[in-house]
Amino acid sequence: MGFVWYLTAFLASSAVFSSNDAGGIRGVEGQYLLGLGIGDITGPVVETNMMGYASLGQTDTGLHMRERSRAFIIAEEANPANRVVFINADIAMGDTGVRRTIVSRLSALFPSLYTNTNIAFVGTHQHSGVGGYLENLLPQITSLGYVNQTANAIVEGTVLAVQRAHGNLKSGKLGLGNTTVLNANINRSPSAYLANPAEERARYEFDQDKDMTVLRFDDDSGEARGFLSFFAVHGTSLYENNTLVSADNKGMAAFLYEASVEPNSMPGNNTFVAGFTQSNVGDTSPNTLGAFCESPGEDFDGMACDFDHSTCGGTVQDCHGRGPGFRISDFESNRLIGQAQLEGAKTVMEGGNLTPVAGAVRSVHVYMDMANHTFALPNGTTVQTCPAAMGFSFAGGTTDGPGAFDFVQGDNSSNPQNPFWEIVKGAVTPPPSAAQIACQDPKPILLNTGYAHFPYEWSPSTVDIQMLRVGNFVMLIMPGELTTMAGRRIREAVRAQLISQGIIGDDAYVVIAGPANTYAHYVTTREEYGVQRYEGASTIFGQYTLEAYINKYTNLLPFIADTVTGTPASDAAPAEQTSKAISLQTGVVFDAAPIGKRFGDVLTDVSTTSAYRAGDTVFAQFVGANPRNNLRLEGTFLNVDQLTSGGAWTPVKSDSHPSTVYRWERTSTVLGTSTVNISWTIEDGTPSGTYRLRYFGDSKPLIGSISPFTGTSSNFMVTA
Ligand SMILES: *[C@@H]1O[C@H](CO)[C@@H](O)[C@H](O)[C@H]1NC(C)=O
Ligand SMILES: *[C@@H]1O[C@H](CO)[C@@H](O)[C@H](O)[C@H]1NC(C)=O
Ligand SMILES: *[C@@H]1O[C@H](CO)[C@@H](O)[C@H](O)[C@H]1NC(C)=O
Ligand SMILES: *[C@@H]1O[C@H](CO)[C@@H](O)[C@H](O)[C@H]1NC(C)=O
Ligand SMILES: *[C@@H]1O[C@H](CO)[C@@H](O)[C@H](O)[C@H]1NC(C)=O
Ligand SMILES: *[C@@H]1O[C@H](CO)[C@@H](O)[C@H](O)[C@H]1NC(C)=O
Ligand SMILES: *[C@@H]1O[C@H](CO)[C@@H](O)[C@H](O)[C@H]1NC(C)=O
Ligand SMILES: *[C@@H]1O[C@H](CO)[C@@H](O)[C@H](O)[C@H]1NC(C)=O
Repeated sequence: MGFVWYLTAFLASSAVFSSNDAGGIRGVEGQYLLGLGIGDITGPVVETNMMGYASLGQTDTGLHMRERSRAFIIAEEANPANRVVFINADIAMGDTGVRRTIVSRLSALFPSLYTNTNIAFVGTHQHSGVGGYLENLLPQITSLGYVNQTANAIVEGTVLAVQRAHGNLKSGKLGLGNTTVLNANINRSPSAYLANPAEERARYEFDQDKDMTVLRFDDDSGEARGFLSFFAVHGTSLYENNTLVSADNKGMAAFLYEASVEPNSMPGNNTFVAGFTQSNVGDTSPNTLGAFCESPGEDFDGMACDFDHSTCGGTVQDCHGRGPGFRISDFESNRLIGQAQLEGAKTVMEGGNLTPVAGAVRSVHVYMDMANHTFALPNGTTVQTCPAAMGFSFAGGTTDGPGAFDFVQGDNSSNPQNPFWEIVKGAVTPPPSAAQIACQDPKPILLNTGYAHFPYEWSPSTVDIQMLRVGNFVMLIMPGELTTMAGRRIREAVRAQLISQGIIGDDAYVVIAGPANTYAHYVTTREEYGVQRYEGASTIFGQYTLEAYINKYTNLLPFIADTVTGTPASDAAPAEQTSKAISLQTGVVFDAAPIGKRFGDVLTDVSTTSAYRAGDTVFAQFVGANPRNNLRLEGTFLNVDQLTSGGAWTPVKSDSHPSTVYRWERTSTVLGTSTVNISWTIEDGTPSGTYRLRYFGDSKPLIGSISPFTGTSSNFMVTA
C-alpha cells in the first residue's frame, strides 16, 4: 500500500511540475492546485486511556467511529512551490512530537514541498479519541505514560492522508463564505466572559461566536471536492463515561456530510472530503441546554449549577452540561450537534454566494519560547509572560467534564491510585518562587509545571506560531484553546494590521484554527484571567499570554505578504521528549480461545427466526482476541454484509458507521480469553434482504506470530 501510494503521488507531482516548468504556463488568477485526502488514525481501541477529559477511569473498550486525518493542500497554480497543507485530525489537540514525526516523514517523501513551515497540524478537540500520544508529561499522567501505538497510528494515517491529497492535486478554485449556526454552542464560563469590558461585549450579539466560515474547494468545472469549515464548539458531546472510541461532534459532522455526498462509499473511502475544523473553542460547550446538578436525593437535584463556580452543594462533581439529546442519549446529543454543523456547512456550500478567493499562497512558522517572553504592549508598557503553571481551578474541571485531573487527590501514599503518578510525584513541581507567584498573579499556583523538567518536561515552554494565507484568507494556527473574546481580539488585531500594513485589502478575512501543533492549554483575555475559572487557571503563561500572541502574530505578517524578504527570527525548537518517555502500558501477552472453541466462533447468534426491522438492533457475540494486536488501519473490525441477487456477499457497513458498535471484553487474564460483541442498529431505509455480521480479529499466541481470523454470524432477514 505504502509503495503504491508513493508511486502515485510521485507520478502526480511530476506531472504537475512538468506542465508548469516546461511551458511556464501562468495560471489564471484565482486558480490553485488543490488536493484532498483522508487517512485512518485510530489507535488501540481497548485497554488505553482516552484523551480529552484526563480521566484515569476513561479506558477504551471498543469502537463507535474511527478517527481520521483529513488533509487539504493548496498550491499556487503558477508557482506550485508556494503551497500549504492543512491537516484536520480527529484528535483532542495537536502535539509537538507527533507533528515533528509527520513533518520529517513528509519532508523525506516530498523534499522541499512539505516543510515545517507549511504543514499545519490541527486537532478537532474531540474528547473520545485514543490517548497517550502527547509528548509532555502532564497529559500522560492518566494514560500511564506515553502510548507509542497511538502516536504511530496518528502519524501513519496523517502521512497517508497527505500522500492521497498530493496524489490527486489538480487545478481548481476556492470560494469563501459564512453563515450563523445558532443551535450548536453555548458559553460554559459566562461569569468569566462578563468580566470583559461592557463596551466590548456590546459589540457582539452572543457570548460565543455563532459564525461558521467555509472555504469551498472546487475543480475547474465548478464541482465541489470538499471544504474546510471553522466553527467553535467543544468536542464534548460524548461524556467521560463513554468508553467507545469515536470522533465526537466534528467527526460526526464530517461522516454525515461525506455520506450525504457519497452514500455508497465506506467511511474513509470517500473522495469528497469534509473538514470540520475547531476554532476559538476555549469557553464553548456543545451542552446547549446548560449545566445542571445530578445529585439524587439532594434538594438541588435537577437544578441549574451555581453560576459563578459551576458547583452543586459546594462541589463540582455533580454539575453536568446537557446536550440537546439529553433525554434520549449522549450519542443523540453528539449526532444533533454534528447535524447542526453539517447544516451550517451545507447552507454555505449550496448557497451560491461564495466569494472567489484569489492571490498568493503563503505560510510562516516560528518557535516562540513563552516561558519568559518580554515585549511591549501597544501603549508602550513592557510586560512579560511566565514559565508555565496551572491554577487551582484547573483541577476543578468544567461542566463538560468535572474534576478533570483529579489525580491530585491520588497523591496519598497510603492509597496509590495511579502507578504513573507514583513514579513522577517525587518530582512534583518545585514550589513557585516569589517572582513566579507575582508573574502568574492573580492565579493561585497548583502545579508549577514550567519548573518541572524531570523525568521530562511537564508542560511545553516553546510553542509553534504559524499562519497560512490563501489570497485574502488568513488562518491563525494557534497552539491552544482561545476563549471567545480572546479569539475575537486576536482576529481583529491581525486583520487591522493586514490592512494597515497593505498586505491584504479591506477584504482581509481571518480565522482561528486550533488547538494545533503544540498543545499549550488555554488562552483567556486578561479580564477573564482575573476570574480564574478553569480556562483562566489553564492559561499557563500568565495574564499577558494573549497579548504576547497578538504581538507575535502581528509582527510576523510581513512574512505572508505577496513579496517576502528574508526569514523571521525564531527561538530554538523544543527538545525532543519521546525518547525519554515512560510507558507503563503493557503489551498484549497472548490470546486463547476457550477449550473446544476457535477464534471467531459465534457465542451468541443473531435471531434467525424472525425478521428485523429499521430501529431494531442486531447483536452477536464472538470468541475474540485483543484488537491491539492489529489496529486494522484503513480496514475494519466488522462488516455487515448483504446477500446480492447474484449470490455474493457485499459489505454495506463497517466499524466506522455510527450504527455499528464493536466492544471487546477480556474474560480471563490467566487463560487469555476474550469476547467481542458486535451490534448494528438498522437505519431507516435499509433495503429488505438477507444479511450477516462478520468479525475480523487477530490473535497472538504465546509463542509465534499474530495471525488473522474471521467470525461470521448466521444469516438474518431485514424487512422494510
Ligand atoms: C515508537 O514506534 C516507532 C515505530 O515502530 C519506533 O520507531 C520508535 O522507536 C518507538 N518509540 C518509542 C519511544 O518507543
Ligand atoms: C462573513 O462574510 C462577510 C462577507 O465576506 C463578512 O463581511 C463578515 O465579516 C463575515 N463574518 C465573519 C464573522 O467573519
Ligand atoms: C454519562 O454521564 C452523563 C452526564 O453525567 C449522564 O447524563 C449519562 O446518563 C451517563 N451515561 C451513562 C450511560 O451512564
Ligand atoms: C474504496 O473505493 C474504491 C474505488 O471506488 C473501491 O475499488 C474499493 O473497493 C473501495 N474499498 C472499500 C473498502 O469499500
Ligand atoms: C525572565 O527575564 C527577566 C528579564 O530578562 C529576568 O530578570 C528573569 O530572571 C527571567 N526569569 C526567568 C524565570 O528566566
Ligand atoms: C498599558 O496597558 C496596561 C494593560 O492595560 C496597563 O496595565 C498599563 O498601566 C498601561 N500603561 C500605561 C503607561 O498606560
Ligand atoms: C490520605 O488522604 C486522606 C484524605 O485527604 C487523608 O485523610 C489521609 O490522612 C491521607 N493519608 C496520608 C498517609 O497522607
Ligand atoms: C457483551 O454482550 C453480553 C451479552 O449481552 C453482555 O453480558 C456483555 O456485558 C457485553 N460486553 C460488553 C463489553 O459490552
